[in-house]
Amino acid sequence: MTAAAKQQRYERLIGQLEDLLAVTPDPIARMATVSALLAGKMSQFLWVGFYRLIDGHLLVGPYQGALACQSLPPGQGVCWACVNTGRAVVVPDVDQFPGHIACDARSRSEVVVPCRDARGRIRAVLDADSDTLNAFETIDAQSLERIAAMVYEDAE
Ligand code: SME
Repeated sequence: MTAAAKQQRYERLIGQLEDLLAVTPDPIARMATVSALLAGKMSQFLWVGFYRLIDGHLLVGPYQGALACQSLPPGQGVCWACVNTGRAVVVPDVDQFPGHIACDARSRSEVVVPCRDARGRIRAVLDADSDTLNAFETIDAQSLERIAAMVYEDAE
């Protein structure tokens, strides 16, 4: 897919999500909707879903894909790198990322973005995996950041 086609697809998805998420302010319901829509429309996503930050733990939230790790060891892996830096993390090759946690052995590349609430606190991360190397780039990180921002936008 060209970068322009990918951007267009994300724009359509974001428009759809604006309508769908307006129906409920509940973050878990929104996560379920986001996961289902991304899994259905983005064919390069092997796994997509959320980990929620609860009492210092990253616990699995709504997702689509193979059975995921239920909780991620503190400080280790890509999701924690996203929480600890407060920024999107794009991993072109998971084997080159020290401490990467392989919930699904088929995963080859990954992108993780933070979900912040209205006060700017990180409440969760949105994680997408692909079974091909280099599947994610800046367009994915920026678009997924916009989507992640929709989940808790009404929550404090
Ligand atoms: N790879 C992630 C763990 C979550 S799974 O990809 C679903 C990590 O290293 O944090």
